[in-house]
Amino acid sequence: MSSVAESDLFASTEPPTGDPTRLHPHVIVLFGATGDLARRKLLPGLLRLSHSGLMPECQIVGTSLEELDQLQFHTFALSACKEFARGDIVADHWEEFRERLHYVSQVHGPESLADAVWHAEQRLSRAGRRLHYLSIPPTAAKAVVETLGQANLVERSRIIMEKPFGTDLASAKSLNDVVHGIFSPDQVYRIDHFLGKEAAQNILAFRFANGLFEPIWNRNHIDHVQIDVPETLSVDSRASFYEGTGAFRDMVVTHLFQVLAFMAMEPPTSLEPRSISEEKNKVFRSMLPIDVTQVVRGQYEGYRAIPGVAEDSQTETFVALKCEIDNWRWAGVPFYLRTGKNLGDGARIISIAFREPPKSMFPANSGIGAHGPDHLTFDLADSSKLSLSFYGKRPGPGMQLDKLSLQFALHETGHEIDVLEAYERLIHDAMSGDHTLFTAADDIERLWELSAPLLENPPDVELYPPRSWGPPGIHDLIAPDAWRLPFERGWRKADA
Ligand code: BG6
Repeated sequence: MSSVAESDLFASTEPPTGDPTRLHPHVIVLFGATGDLARRKLLPGLLRLSHSGLMPECQIVGTSLEELDQLQFHTFALSACKEFARGDIVADHWEEFRERLHYVSQVHGPESLADAVWHAEQRLSRAGRRLHYLSIPPTAAKAVVETLGQANLVERSRIIMEKPFGTDLASAKSLNDVVHGIFSPDQVYRIDHFLGKEAAQNILAFRFANGLFEPIWNRNHIDHVQIDVPETLSVDSRASFYEGTGAFRDMVVTHLFQVLAFMAMEPPTSLEPRSISEEKNKVFRSMLPIDVTQVVRGQYEGYRAIPGVAEDSQTETFVALKCEIDNWRWAGVPFYLRTGKNLGDGARIISIAFREPPKSMFPANSGIGAHGPDHLTFDLADSSKLSLSFYGKRPGPGMQLDKLSLQFALHETGHEIDVLEAYERLIHDAMSGDHTLFTAADDIERLWELSAPLLENPPDVELYPPRSWGPPGIHDLIAPDAWRLPFERGWRKADA
């Protein structure tokens, strides 16, 4: 029998100890099990979690609109894991995972789903929880939540909902109403996988575990901030989702705004979900509505030729914008956000430009200011890096100044092996009942409210050549400052 007291059996939170024996057995119901996210991240992530020692006893029921038998689903899952799992797949690990993996098509309705979950539960050694992962487009979310109600799969359940949560304020509110009519708020986990990235959480550690930077983390010392997430990927295989979504809904109203909140929030009173959520919410409440004159929407040349995309599509595959947080800490500091597909390079950076000294004793030809202001740069990529740049003296006679930097990379900690991929981390947190890195309904509604001017009155898309850095308008948006990417100087190599 379990060591968990019977009265605690379905308490809403379990301590996030990382000890799987403290977690209840689970049946994970994966909606959208044959979709792009399941293939690239969720199935490989579940495979890794299941042999990482972090996962409790678990069965997985995949479901989607496709009619597949078990064998076809196993074949799909294996090929997804082979293509996207980190490292080679150990045959025994796959075999164990395969035995836990079941499939039922959604077209057979709520009863078949309930039946498949019941059968999966019979394979657990004791009563467990259910975790419903909705890896589906926002337009399908309501129907699936209702199906869960009809299938009687609400009790002992938690539900992870993928972004974007709704497509505007009205749809987000109506989705929240449906969800809250069926699930209680503490059962709902709205996922934003950027917050599950090791590097995003390191922003919290960096800011609030040190006394060094927080005193200068404000408008008196910071000139502007860039959150820049260019991607080299195009959208060919996801056109049907993307055409109705676009870069703003797919990336900005979700990931970039969430990262911005970690960067801009006040120190939370403690490291627990409510305190962090309160501070993020204050940031969103202080943000000014998006000013459409400060937005550049772009579309890469050739996008309209993709099957499933309208010939005259106005869907943006690129967006850059300036936003402002009108509070005591940040008033007057521009936050520049940029993201897009099919761009010159892939990166995920937050770059903080510090104010320049008020007076300089160095002559103009010394190199002072020649490489822009001092920057603190977080690289949110999986290799997670940090750089602080400053002017220093070039060795030799006279006083020539060069831009130098202090740099740190995750691999230097010796803990690289322990890094959980963002989805792995967040699925594990949801199983533990830990809401800290999930987003609140209020925040989402507020972000849609701030986005309304842009959604209602979007500027026309400007075309840009594939593998460029976006349309020409992006330079005017940020002038007299300049985009950090592409970097003038690269990151230092591991052994340099
Ligand atoms: C997803 C978006 O949420 O995030 C994708 O839907 C995007 O369009 C992806 O490519 C980027 O995430 P990551 O973790 O690869 O930076």
